[in-house]
Amino acid sequence: MMQPRILGDIRIRAMGIADVLAVTDLDQKAFSLPWPQRAFENELTNPMARTWVVDLPNVENQPLIASMIIWLILDEAHIATIALHEQYRRHGIGKVLLAHALLDAYDEGARCSLLEVRRSNEAALALYRSAGFVEVGVRKKYYSDNREDALLMNLDEIKPEVWQSVLSNNSQMKVEGIE
Ligand SMILES: CC(C)(COP(=O)(O)OP(=O)(O)OC[C@H]1O[C@@H](n2cnc3c(N)ncnc32)[C@H](O)[C@@H]1OP(=O)(O)O)[C@@H](O)C(=O)NCCC(=O)NCCS
Repeated sequence: MMQPRILGDIRIRAMGIADVLAVTDLDQKAFSLPWPQRAFENELTNPMARTWVVDLPNVENQPLIASMIIWLILDEAHIATIALHEQYRRHGIGKVLLAHALLDAYDEGARCSLLEVRRSNEAALALYRSAGFVEVGVRKKYYSDNREDALLMNLDEIKPEVWQSVLSNNSQMKVEGIE
C-alpha cells in the first residue's frame, strides 16, 4: 500500500505535505478550474484518498512531473484528478501512473473505476479510451467555468494482469534529457 515504484528514470510515490506547493502549481498549469492548495492538503488526510506523485529521482531537486488522486469508494476507484507537467506528456507516463494507481486500488479491494472528463479534453479521452474506459453517461454543464459537459467514463473491471503488463512494458522508462 502506497509503496514507491521505480520505472527507469521515473519514480511513483505517495504525495506528502512537502509536495503540496509543487502539486498545486502543476494543477494550476494543467486545468482551467484548478484545485486550491487547501484541497490537496485535505486529501492527504482523507481516509478514502490515495494520493500519488511522479518525480525524477536521478535529477537534482527531484522535480515533480505528475500527480494523481484516487478515491476508494467501496469497490470503486474514482479518479479525482490526474495531471502531467506539459513537458512530460506523450511519453506514456500518464498511462503508467494510471496503471500503478489502479493496481494499488485493486489491492485495496477496488474492482471498477469511474471518472468525469470534459467533453473537449481529447488527450484525457485518448488516455482513458486506450485504458479501456467507456462512456456511460453525461453530466450536463458540470464545469462551472464554461458550463461544459462532463462525460462519465467507466472501467467495468480492473484487470490486474493488463495493468501489470503496462508496468512491465515500461519498466525502463526513459525521459528525454536525463543521463
Ligand atoms: C491527459 C494526460 C494526463 C495524459 O497524460 P500523458 O502522460 O500525456 O498520456 P500518455 O503519454 O500516457 O498517453 C496515453 C494514451 O493516450 C494517448 N494520448 C495522450 N495524449 C494525447 C493527445 N494529446 N492526443 C491524442 N492522444 C493522446 C496516447 O497516444 C496514449 O495512447 P496509447 O496508450 O494507445 O499509445 C495529460 O495530457 C495531462 O496532464 N493533461 C492535462 C490535465 C488533464 O486534462 N487531466 C485529465 C483530467 S480528466
